[in-house]
Amino acid sequence: MIEPSKRSELVSYPIRDIVQAAKKIEAQGTDMIYLNIGDPAPFGFRPPKHILDAVKEALDQNYSGYAPSEGDPELRKTVAEYEHVSPDDVFITAGLSEGIDFVFQAMLDPGRNILLPTPTYPLYLTKERISYGTIEFYGCDENFEPDLDSMRKRINEFTTAITVINPNNPTGAVYSRKTLQGIIDLAGEYKLPIIADDVYDQMVFDGEMTPLRRFSKDVPVVSGNSMSKNYLYPGARVAYLSFQGEGWDDIKETIQRLCNQRLSVNWEMQRAYISAIKGPHNHIKEFNSELKKRRDILVKRCNEIDGLTLAAPKGAFYAFVKVDGPWKNDTEFVHGLLKEGVVTVPGSGFAPTLNEKYFRLVFLPQPEQLEEAFNRIERYMKKI
Ligand SMILES: Cc1ncc(COP(=O)(O)O)c(C=O)c1O
Repeated sequence: MIEPSKRSELVSYPIRDIVQAAKKIEAQGTDMIYLNIGDPAPFGFRPPKHILDAVKEALDQNYSGYAPSEGDPELRKTVAEYEHVSPDDVFITAGLSEGIDFVFQAMLDPGRNILLPTPTYPLYLTKERISYGTIEFYGCDENFEPDLDSMRKRINEFTTAITVINPNNPTGAVYSRKTLQGIIDLAGEYKLPIIADDVYDQMVFDGEMTPLRRFSKDVPVVSGNSMSKNYLYPGARVAYLSFQGEGWDDIKETIQRLCNQRLSVNWEMQRAYISAIKGPHNHIKEFNSELKKRRDILVKRCNEIDGLTLAAPKGAFYAFVKVDGPWKNDTEFVHGLLKEGVVTVPGSGFAPTLNEKYFRLVFLPQPEQLEEAFNRIERYMKKI
């Protein structure tokens, strides 16, 4: 037997890990509604035409070589203008997944920690684990807004940064200006940089939101963004990191080396990202109004079903739903639900230290399909 490394055991991605179990049940004839992955494409949402045209044009112009490792110069310039930084502060990555990987590699040593919210996006957990960092979570209140007292308590001498995911995956929370200012003040007080995951920053359908990086002033922020969500094009695998504020020079030099060792990001997709950022952005308004309709169905159905509690999402397209009932844990709940034909993700994949049971679902389906998913959830809960 060829043994996998010990380190590899630290890697998990519960959002996709559930698919193997779902496929087995599907193969026995159960019709499945997949609500596990945050991908708009299977639900009929397409990237705007001008972005797809830009990909075609780039292919015709023969962008088939390796791009510069740090990114296409015109794209870096476009991002720099959008983010009010210099092109040298911008690095193009293969999805923000790679950007997160690079930032954690650049900033974590064994025994150090980057503060994460609980619940969190699971990639952060894996990155912290495989860098042999110490996992430190800050808590959130019942509406999933970061709890600043808890954040303060978790900062220690080994803390190197604070991660803020807003709008949030898995909760759909959109943080208030007051909370964001509180985080900025705390980071300033402890001289910590902020890692701002801004991947859903245009997907706010309830109220207004100014991303933290737009008013963080002197606190150093590295912001991550991507074509995946805001431009409905996750298959493009192109994203960026933009650094603002002082003190990043050594980290930027490290990020450059991390970019160099993996050579390049798809060049034609980088060309398309230029068109995406320059606009038009009409698709966002339409998409957000579709999300709001679906969110309202989600809220209504969760309120109607005994045993489910929801803090209504205001952005992104995820809900983190609390379950009360006889299930031993949320994994048992989610695996039981698979047999009814609904694929969700156990909350413990996002929040290993939470005692209550949660599951995460995406509310991207067409209204009829979303209703059908909730009919199945309701049936499942009544059976027990
Ligand atoms: C909060 C968050 N950050 C980062 C990513 C990674 O995005 P991508 O690698 O597609 O750019 C995702 C994907 O779902 C996400 O939800």
